[in-house]
Amino acid sequence: MSKAGRLVVLVSGSGTNLQALLDASADPSYGARVVAVGADRDGIEGLVKASKAGIPTFVEKLGNYPTRADWDAAIAAKIAEYDPSLVVSAGFMKILGAPTLEAFPVLNTHPALLPSFPGAHGVRDALAHGVKVTGCTVMLADAGVDTGPIVAQETVPVLPDDDEAVLHERIKTVERRLLVEIVGRMVREGWTVSGRIVRIGNQTGGEST
Ligand code: GRF
Repeated sequence: MSKAGRLVVLVSGSGTNLQALLDASADPSYGARVVAVGADRDGIEGLVKASKAGIPTFVEKLGNYPTRADWDAAIAAKIAEYDPSLVVSAGFMKILGAPTLEAFPVLNTHPALLPSFPGAHGVRDALAHGVKVTGCTVMLADAGVDTGPIVAQETVPVLPDDDEAVLHERIKTVERRLLVEIVGRMVREGWTVSGRIVRIGNQTGGEST
């Protein structure tokens, strides 16, 4: 497979989005495969899922570095070892710094309809606000918190008796399918970015304009 199909996936938790990508990439026509899984912490189910699939893993803990800049450089160097064409932040609970963002396109997924409810508690914040429709967003990462150009979104209803866990699971069912679809299409068809507008298709490989 060419470099175009190489994914490094970053996780911090249960890794069900990672698993969806692993399952999709079992079909060669998907066009992408996970070549490594990185995390910012040990002992998470996402790393177990990667190991069970025979995928190399690495852990870079922020606390093991004297400064944030050192961690930023270390994780970028580790990602670079796997020569990815796309980095997928799939429930990775750290903001990536310039060394990673300048070297690779990074796709991120968020369990709310951005620009509403960014940050670590998007599901809780949407529920507390009383919205009746929420959803998920796949976007290109930039230096901000969930501020990058939006690639795709889907809506999910909020039901009267929802709590955060129930709503998050309903969102994640949609989120996994959307992430798999968008990663596959970006890898197979390429994409362009013009300002905040992302378009998939009509070229091979990702390019910013
Ligand atoms: C996803 O909803 C992601 O958007 C959010 O955390 C969840 C990660 O789920 N940031 P998983 O680890 O892929 O199961």
